[in-house]
Amino acid sequence: MKPVTGLIEGMKVEGLKSRTFCRAKAFIFKKNRNFDGKRNIMTTLSEFIHGLPKAELHLHIEGTLEPELLFQLAERNHIQLKYPSVEALKKAYKFSNLQEFLDLYYEGANVLIEEQDFYDLTWDYLEKCKEQNVVHTEIFFDPQTHTERGILFATVINGINRALQDGREKLGISSKLIMCFLRHLDEASAFQTLDEALDYKDLIVAVGLDSSEKGNPPGKFERVFAKAREEGFLTVAHAGEEGPASFVKDAVDLLKIIRIDHGIAAIQDEFLLAELAQKQIPLTVCPLSNLELRAVDQLENHPLKKLMDHGLLVTVNSDDPAYFGGYVNENYLASAEALGLSKADLCQLAKNSVIASLLSEPEKEHHINAIQQYCSENA
Ligand code: ADE
Ligand code: ZN
Repeated sequence: MKPVTGLIEGMKVEGLKSRTFCRAKAFIFKKNRNFDGKRNIMTTLSEFIHGLPKAELHLHIEGTLEPELLFQLAERNHIQLKYPSVEALKKAYKFSNLQEFLDLYYEGANVLIEEQDFYDLTWDYLEKCKEQNVVHTEIFFDPQTHTERGILFATVINGINRALQDGREKLGISSKLIMCFLRHLDEASAFQTLDEALDYKDLIVAVGLDSSEKGNPPGKFERVFAKAREEGFLTVAHAGEEGPASFVKDAVDLLKIIRIDHGIAAIQDEFLLAELAQKQIPLTVCPLSNLELRAVDQLENHPLKKLMDHGLLVTVNSDDPAYFGGYVNENYLASAEALGLSKADLCQLAKNSVIASLLSEPEKEHHINAIQQYCSENA
């Protein structure tokens, strides 16, 4: 087992004049303070989004580890954190690119040791779903983040699954679990992880691909994904987050994905856009993540609305909400404000989230009817 390490003292914190913890939150706050008329409109939109039933399809459970829980788990597991306080850790959450974020994200995950830790992490996220009217969620987990440091696959999945089960019974939130391969690791490690997942076929509905996109094209995992499909798993993949549009095309052609995670680079390729629209391959877009990781310079320039206007099946999601300063409702609200989305657009996004989900047709129909009724009553 590799030694457990805490977060490195002073990393990106000491001596740096910190950027606001979450630019998006500050953005919303500023807008709310503008003047009375503006504040009323914002409140109404915020309330509208809050009440809108919705699904979340792009959420890394490790990315929901809030600094407060991170500190609690560190204490419970006797892990020495080098950050003196929650506030100091929060100040480190400023990133120039995906890799800077991933370095901190993997380091943060080191506090997850026992099955109960994975339960607590997942349960806290489900409570957030309840608060935000997320009626269904499809959750990524990264087993290699944990097995690489000696935590058993069973510890991870049993903790997450027990919370998901409680979420269904106690909160009425349905869920699916998607196992991601870390693309910065090699094919052999992915094959080994797939092997471990075979004992849990009843709990894992699909496999995905995440971590550092640059230098790790979808083709690296073509054989792993072929085996996963043979074993009955559906496939999804992160593509076109930092990488080029060709990675989105490769994920479709080589990995036979049923959904693209992010996929915003597709906006640069009109042939690809036409194919994604024609096949109605969903994109699980994460606006605040793209802002925080500088995939877009400002939300006003995010391609979300353009992708919708091209006829793509686009959804809005939070990715790693503990790190990017917003859960799904904050993503809807910040996008609506920056891009001028109407209530009809927001209703369409909520419907898209159900259509693009892995729920059964009757379940989809039930949720779409509820969204439609809400939208009609609150237009
Ligand atoms: N793992 C967690 N968040 C991720 C992201 N936004 N992109 C790729 N891998 C991730
Ligand atoms: Zn992601």
